[in-house]
Amino acid sequence: MSDAEASLLDAAAAARAAAICPHSNFAVGAALLASDGTVWTGANVENASYTLGLCAERVAIFYALTHGARDFTAVAVVTGAATPSTPCGACRQILLEFAADATVVTATTAGETMRTSVRALLPFGFDASSLARSE
Ligand code: THU
Repeated sequence: MSDAEASLLDAAAAARAAAICPHSNFAVGAALLASDGTVWTGANVENASYTLGLCAERVAIFYALTHGARDFTAVAVVTGAATPSTPCGACRQILLEFAADATVVTATTAGETMRTSVRALLPFGFDASSLARSE
């Protein structure tokens, strides 16, 4: 793992403190590194109507995108799980659309880490190229 990725994990760990997760008590912090060096963070936000909650990764990337960021090189996720958590399926789909070439680093609060990529997490994904028609 590079120094930049380790720093991004630190940012995700700090962002985790902002999680609003009274229903699951599973706090998640996420951080994205943009190609200009900017770090964008987010945390999960839950709702009593459970399905309306939003994962930390999507909070972070929607925040980044709506503030003008476009090109991301790495995504970091930190949870208190027993083993490093990878982004859920919905987040993988969003990451494929906006951060397809990003590395993914994920860590537990206990310090266990893993390193992968958006493309490895969503092989054969559906993206804009999938909309090309033959008819
Ligand atoms: N969660 C995330 O924030 N990111 C993930 O990749 C998986 C799950 C959140 C959603 C919910 O608030 C809590 O973790 C438990 O699923």
